[in-house]
Parts: sequence; structure tokens; C-alpha cells
Amino acid sequence: MFNVEKIRQDFPILSRKVNGQPLVYFDNAATSQTPQQVIDVIVDYYSNYNANIHRGVHSLSQEATDKYEAARHKIQHHFNAEKAHEIILTSGTTHGINLVASGFASLLSASDEVIVSALEHHSNIVPWQMLCEKTGAVLKVIPMNDEGELVKDIYNDLLSDKTKLVFVNHISNALGTINPIEHIIKKAHQVGAAVLVDGAQACPHIKPDVQALDVDFYVASAHKMCGPTGVGMLYGKEEWLNKLPPYQGGGEMIAEVTFEKTTYADLPHKFEAGTPNICGGIAFGAAIDYLNNIGFDAIATYENELLDYATKQLLTIEGLKIYGTSKHKTSVISFNIGTIHPYDIGTIVDKLGIAVRTGHHCAQPIMDYYKIPGTIRASFAFYNTKAEIDKLVNALKKAIEMLS
Ligand code: ALA
Repeated sequence: MFNVEKIRQDFPILSRKVNGQPLVYFDNAATSQTPQQVIDVIVDYYSNYNANIHRGVHSLSQEATDKYEAARHKIQHHFNAEKAHEIILTSGTTHGINLVASGFASLLSASDEVIVSALEHHSNIVPWQMLCEKTGAVLKVIPMNDEGELVKDIYNDLLSDKTKLVFVNHISNALGTINPIEHIIKKAHQVGAAVLVDGAQACPHIKPDVQALDVDFYVASAHKMCGPTGVGMLYGKEEWLNKLPPYQGGGEMIAEVTFEKTTYADLPHKFEAGTPNICGGIAFGAAIDYLNNIGFDAIATYENELLDYATKQLLTIEGLKIYGTSKHKTSVISFNIGTIHPYDIGTIVDKLGIAVRTGHHCAQPIMDYYKIPGTIRASFAFYNTKAEIDKLVNALKKAIEMLS
């Protein structure tokens, strides 16, 4: 049985006050909160077995290495990767995307094309633009419609034997749209193109199966999934990871170094230069355990209920317009109220203890499509409640009164 009040007790931050009011945290798409079970793992690491990994014969180093590699296996099983070495631990989604984009610089030429979607976060646009600048490859864009959905027919027309790569997010951070990645992957493979899916916004809500999706690369961040910041994962099919050159040079990623020539380590170490975020990786594993103990079906059912309730309640406010109205969306609501600047609303509701994000959400092309500078974004997690949504609606009404 899903018991939100019991779940809330796992999150110490949810009982604090902000500006004298109980915190209502609706900025989960920016970063999720951390349960005590994950905080305990972080404290345990630094209290009991902080050591560098893969390097020492001493017991602490072995203990840290075992726990770090156990976390990699948890991540492997969570995403259903066939092999543990197909999971590269990164500093987050942006790192994973840059690693792949940088690797493709040696595989693309000026006659090639790559396709991005109009719904991307800047982190899934800029690295590919940089790649195109380096290689001369042409960047094409799958357009969006007024509902905030990708236009599938135009995507199909953009594909050709020149297409080498397609990158798309699983769920839009700014609008919450769930993209048809199964279709996108299938069509891309028909022309021999590889696909990278940015799963940063999807992984708090759903459990992706990389083998069933047949996706070539999938990236995510722990901090959106109840884990710490500064750690994430890149899944890559073994054949692709073997084709890409190393991203960074340094310790751990080598087989042998001489001044004449260096040879590289096998996967996954080839892509893990330097001392990684050891504690973060172990805590990422604990966060995955935490989410799976609640269960992704229960999370999705409850969050959909919150999304429906919040959509209905917000639309009772005169002049409120929601951006992103796809039937396939997750618990993110982006909106504006009349011509009031999102920043003014965000500042007033913060005084009432409510955290929302305002601005372009690192997705300026989406804002340009709607011809707006930004939105107010309320993003819900499984530990939020309908009572908190009521507080937001009341706070918005107060803000409107103050600003009009
Ligand atoms: N990508 C994060 C967001 O959407 C930071 O807020």
C-alpha cells in the first residue's frame, strides 16, 4: 500500500520551514530530495570506509571498491543492461552526453547529419552543436507542436542514410512530455543511425529497460532520483563504447603508459579517468534500492493522480495557461498567469514556503516556440501531497492579488 505520510517521514528536509512556513517542495525536476536511507549510506561511507578504489591492497580500499562495483551492478540491473561494463559512472547526465558527443567527433564527417529534438534541455543541444562545428556535420531539428509534442511525421522525413545519430530526451524537463522514444529508436535504426536518450527527467518516474528499448546510449543523473548530486550513469551498448575513443586521459583509464605510447583500459575503466565520486556512486545504488522498494508502478500511479489534481486546480485560476498539454506527460506543470512575470510569482510563493522553478528551464528553444521568456514550473514527486497543491493554488491567488 502506498502511504505518502509514511514516505514523507523518510525525508528530513520535508519537515523544515522556509520563511516561517512549512516547506512545500515543487522543484523536483531540478533536483529531488534525499531520503534518510541514502543520507545514512553517505555518512557510513565517510565515517567507516572512505578510501580510493581499484588502487590499494589494503582492506578499506577493497571495501570501498566492492561497494562501488556493487552499485554499478545495481544500476546495471535497474536499467536492464546486459553487461555491467556497459554502465559508465559519470558526474551526471551532462557529462555522459559530452562523453558521447566528443567520441563521435572522430566518427563523423561533413557529409553526415545528426538529429536533435525541439524539446531538448540545453545539455542535449550544445554538445551536439559543438560536435557539428568540429566535424562539419549538419544538425537537424524534429519540430514540436502546440501541445508540446514532437511531430513524428517530420521526424520520419528528416531521416536518411546520411543520419548518423539522433538524440532526444525521454521526458521533457520544461513541459513533462513523454516522448515516443520507441518509435524514434526504431526509425533511426532503420537508416543505421545510433540514438542517445537523455533520461534525466524520466528516471525519477519510470524504470527504463535499455535492452527492450534497443537504445544505443542512455544517460541519467542520481540527483533527480533521490541520490546525491555529482554522479550519474551512461549506458552504452558494448560495441559502441568500444568504438568511441576515451573522453579524458588520466589514472585508471590506462592499461600501460610509456612516453612512446599509452594503451587504454577495458570498459568501463576506459571512460572513468581519475578518482570518481566514490561515495556518490555507492549512494546512487542506495537511491535505486529506495525507489525500487516503493515501486515504480506505485510511484507512477500516485504521481499521475497528483498531476490530474494539480492540473484541474490550477486551471480554476483565471488567466492561467499551461504549456505542455500532451496526453503523454509526467508530473510537471509549466504555466504562466496573464502577463505577470514568472519571476515575480516565484518570489512571492517562496515567501510562503513554496519552491517552484521559474525561467526558461535551460530549454530556450521551447520558450521561443511559445514566444514567452519563461514559465513557472511546479514539478511533483511521490512525496508531495494534494494538500500541498492546495497551498500552491492559494499562494498563487495571493500573488495575483498583490501584483494586480
Ligand atoms: N535540468 C534541471 C531542471 O530542469 C536543472 O530544472
